[in-house]
Amino acid sequence: MIIAIDGPAAAGKGTLARRLGERLGFALLDTGLLYRAVGMKCLAAGADPGDETAATAIARDLHTADLDTPGLRGDEAANAASKVAVIPGVRAALLDFQRQFAAYPPGREPGAVLDGRDIGTVVCPGADVKLFVTASAEVRAQRRVKELRERGLDAIYARVLQDMKERDARDSSRAVAPLAPADDAVVLDTSDLDADAVFEAAMRIVTSRNREG
Ligand code: DC
Repeated sequence: MIIAIDGPAAAGKGTLARRLGERLGFALLDTGLLYRAVGMKCLAAGADPGDETAATAIARDLHTADLDTPGLRGDEAANAASKVAVIPGVRAALLDFQRQFAAYPPGREPGAVLDGRDIGTVVCPGADVKLFVTASAEVRAQRRVKELRERGLDAIYARVLQDMKERDARDSSRAVAPLAPADDAVVLDTSDLDADAVFEAAMRIVTSRNREG
């Protein structure tokens, strides 16, 4: 079984993907980490993440160990990731990795949960369950500020909100695989839901698909 979870940054898809993976015993792939790793490798090589030739070569040579690079979850990596993510050669290079993971989970788990922006539309269009997890930009910015402050980092709401909107615009307007719900995705708006409620809603959807299938 393949579960595809897409949505904008800080909507709660990472938490949901992890919890579904744990509950169901499925392999989990946070596909944003692939783009983050490519972005960080560009910076480390002294290349601009927007440089098509450099970023594509790096994406073609990405190894699983690169996903353990420190700092991948930080903002520098996020910004570099959203720049490499608009490059068609980068997306093509990462497609194969993601499809292999979904079809042949590395620990031979009976299923896989992939979260990202284009899993239901491009990477796994035949996924058994497709969820599009979203929330208003304001709610997502508030969550991000809380998370940063909990990690002891400085965060200014207005700046985080602006950053979030810029990233949304880049992700949604790019020509290749823009962020959008698949026609057959179930949209979960988490603006007024906590993580438990989102998880319960998702489990109901997975269980009902299982019964149909
Ligand atoms: O989910 P995230 O913040 O780790 O994603 C980082 C960037 O990578 C984000 O700007 C969008 C891009 N991305 C993508 O284009 N396709 C994916 N499947 C996952 C992430």
